[in-house]
Amino acid sequence: MHEEDKTSKSRHRPIRSFVLRGGRLTRAQQHALDELWPHYGIDEGAGVVDFSEHFGNASDVIVEIGFGNGESTWRMAQGEPDANFVGIEVHEPGVGHLLMALDKHAIDNVRIAREDAVTFLGQRVADAALAGVRIYFPDPWPKKRHHKRRIIQPDFVLELARCMTPGGVLHLATDWQPYAEHMLEVMSANPDFVNLSQSGDYCPQPHWRPRTKYEQRGQRLGHVVRDLLYRRKQG
Ligand SMILES: C[S@@+](CC[C@H](N)C(=O)[O-])C[C@H]1O[C@@H](n2cnc3c(N)ncnc32)[C@H](O)[C@@H]1O
Repeated sequence: MHEEDKTSKSRHRPIRSFVLRGGRLTRAQQHALDELWPHYGIDEGAGVVDFSEHFGNASDVIVEIGFGNGESTWRMAQGEPDANFVGIEVHEPGVGHLLMALDKHAIDNVRIAREDAVTFLGQRVADAALAGVRIYFPDPWPKKRHHKRRIIQPDFVLELARCMTPGGVLHLATDWQPYAEHMLEVMSANPDFVNLSQSGDYCPQPHWRPRTKYEQRGQRLGHVVRDLLYRRKQG
């Protein structure tokens, strides 16, 4: 490839909020992907997803972005059986882990998309299709030159607003204080969301959010955990 081709390719490469980690699938995870994906998976593709077709009902849809190993996903789905959950994650072993948990606990109100959540929301979710979005401990990208990789950005929040139904709740959590402040700044610049915090910043941890693996790691390091809750405004 010519030098200039390489340059133009890298110039057009999208900025992603993740780096695909290696990490081998266990045999059980591979088995779960082979056997359970056809039932729980939303295949990559083009066009808007009809969630009611995937779930077999028209209940509210709540998306969890970057579910990691999916412990929070299945626990929330078990605790909120009247809602449908769509977990989005690019890390394959995490997807396998969640599939195994869904099967073990006989949970059927979860479906999984194994692709970039930014693309999924941008291309496959209809206007006002989501009753809630939850993003727990997104990669903090602490170095200044990596801040552009943080998933919470003005354009992405505009996309969230488009996808969410008026009255729907966006729930963010982080154990990285500079990211919490970045979230506050980005969210307060968006006219479509109202902060539900009485003090104008953070909220107590809501009862529906389980403790996640990444959160436990942060707490071992002495980090303070922040929950941020926003309501999508009417119209
Ligand atoms: C720091 S981990 C937190 C995982 C989990 N929420 C927890 O609290 O334990 C962030 C996760 O988000 C996933 N992720 C980051 N950007 C993503 C994107 N654009 N689409 C889907 N998953 C993403 C990563 O693969 C990673 O598993």
